[in-house]
Amino acid sequence: MTDNNFCISVQDVTKTVDTPDGELDILQNISLKVRYQEALVIKGASGSGKTTLLGLMAGLDNISSGEIILLGQSIADKTEEQRSGIRAGKVGFVFQSFQLVQGATALQNVMLPLELGGDKNAAEIALTSLQQVGLETKKDILVDLLSGGEQQRVSIARAYAVRPQILFADEPTGNLDAKTGQQIADLMFRLRDQSGTTLILVTHEAELAKRGDRQVLLESGRLQGKS
Ligand SMILES: Nc1ncnc2c1ncn2[C@@H]1O[C@H](COP(=O)(O)OP(=O)(O)O)[C@@H](O)[C@H]1O
Ligand SMILES: [Mg+2]
Repeated sequence: MTDNNFCISVQDVTKTVDTPDGELDILQNISLKVRYQEALVIKGASGSGKTTLLGLMAGLDNISSGEIILLGQSIADKTEEQRSGIRAGKVGFVFQSFQLVQGATALQNVMLPLELGGDKNAAEIALTSLQQVGLETKKDILVDLLSGGEQQRVSIARAYAVRPQILFADEPTGNLDAKTGQQIADLMFRLRDQSGTTLILVTHEAELAKRGDRQVLLESGRLQGKS
């Protein structure tokens, strides 16, 4: 059942949730394969299901039907704990809202996933990662005091610190002004080129979308066109 040529394989996936008004189909019949080291862009209007699809591909959430193979392993029949084991050290995330630990320094934030993985050299690796995003001089500053663009750079440093095989980014420039957003996009693609990471990027910004190797479009929970 595994397909080792692809980093992620999504086969006929649906996601249905119960709501007070009955069942809601968020995603329907999604099939999509992502190659290793590819930069795939998922576009779509707000509410089209982008974040839900990203969460399913990353194994953060359960699919309702279909199959997803993540890094050679089926995640459809796995528990949350087993899925977290598949992700550990292999998958990084960057979110629109940064999701840093407030009250902690930039360095402490980047060290977090390394420490969770039991890495003995967490501080050293985290510092290197902060250097790669040009923030080594801000390492001891509380992230609360950093600008939005700087906070997103910390979150990128945190995501790349574990040297993930896949980086998922959900509208990473959505909360930033155009110029800062451009810098963040440059940084993400530069690190991706340097490290050979597979990049799965959700955005509705056309300029950013163009930088991907391939774009797919979600409309009302369905993938449009050939994927
Ligand atoms: N757990 C849930 N329960 C009910 N509705 C949900 C749930 N998760 C997402 N939705 C709905 O599904 C649709 C797609 O959401 P989302 O994946 O966040 O879209 P996007 O990221 O493209 O804006 C939205 O209409 C959203 O309100
Ligand atoms: Mg979203």
